[in-house]
Amino acid sequence: MSEITLEELPGVGPATAEKLKEAGFNTVEAVAVASPSELATTAEIGESTAAKIINAARQAADIGGFETGDVVLERRKMVGKLTTGCTEFDEMMGGGIESQAITELYGEFGSGKTQLAHQLAVNVQMDREHGGLDGSVIIIDTENTFRPERIAQMVKGLSEKYGMELDPEEFLQNIHVARAYNSNHQILLVDSATDLANELRDMGKPVRLLIVDSLMAHFRAEYVGRGTLADRQQKLNKHMHGLLRFGDLFNACVVVTNQVMAKPDAFFGDPTRPVGGHVVGHTATFRLYLRKSKGDKRIIRLVDSPNLPEGEAVIAVTTDGLTDQ
Ligand code: GTP
Ligand code: MG
Repeated sequence: MSEITLEELPGVGPATAEKLKEAGFNTVEAVAVASPSELATTAEIGESTAAKIINAARQAADIGGFETGDVVLERRKMVGKLTTGCTEFDEMMGGGIESQAITELYGEFGSGKTQLAHQLAVNVQMDREHGGLDGSVIIIDTENTFRPERIAQMVKGLSEKYGMELDPEEFLQNIHVARAYNSNHQILLVDSATDLANELRDMGKPVRLLIVDSLMAHFRAEYVGRGTLADRQQKLNKHMHGLLRFGDLFNACVVVTNQVMAKPDAFFGDPTRPVGGHVVGHTATFRLYLRKSKGDKRIIRLVDSPNLPEGEAVIAVTTDGLTDQ
């Protein structure tokens, strides 16, 4: 992280710095990846001033502008891969769930989205030797489906798998859960998550996983009818970019769950598709489609990825957590 403070950026006085911080732009890095209009509105400054501040922040934080391929490769080397705990699934993902990216889990009720999210919240706390990222977790829970008891079962499962003495209590202490009461609150919680992640990083407990379960439930419930769609998509776009920014800032995995709806015009192929339209489709880096199969088996299909072939993996949801089938 850069050493300089917001106040040291040209064009930022103490008053502006205060407004920026209130709006969640706590660091030079956060300003560097903001859009001019976003910054102009929150700090009540002109857009051209905002653009100048952003440019200065980019130089200070050493981000933005053009980069050569070798520099990009260098940053990609920082990308962590978080194990799913399932061999086939990890292989399909090229090693695991990537940091600095949004992974979307979609599928119908009971397909295992929330289960997978719980499992990742456990796995991410393991050391790298065991497929984890030595990290803590933030969960934005919109449907009140976080279950600490389930985390404890999964920790017990891992203890047995690796023959280690793992303490469920310790795992629970590293999972920070917030209920989101509506879509606006959900968007604001990403700012609070950023504050918390800054604190946790300073305490030596970096956040390596941010979960939003579920991404669309509030948006769908609140924006009903055709006339509201543009407004909804604009809000959603802001939210998705807030999540991407979080992943970049903290080198964290961002995992969101999503619902499906029937596609009435589908004569061929699968008649379900994720909700959220192009905004979600284009900002999610990896899209995974979860389907129920026989008994405790679930089929996971990698639908969209920038660098991996499409594929399917079969996993099992058991009391001990997600395992190979
Ligand atoms: P929605 O949020 O309703 O859209 O569904 P989801 O995709 O999040 O489903 P979820 O991950 O909650 O999956 C629920 C299913 O997981 C249940 O129907 C069970 O089959 C399975 N499951 C949940 N808890 C346990 C458990 O403790 N043991 C076992 N064996 N299976 C479990
Ligand atoms: Mg769920």
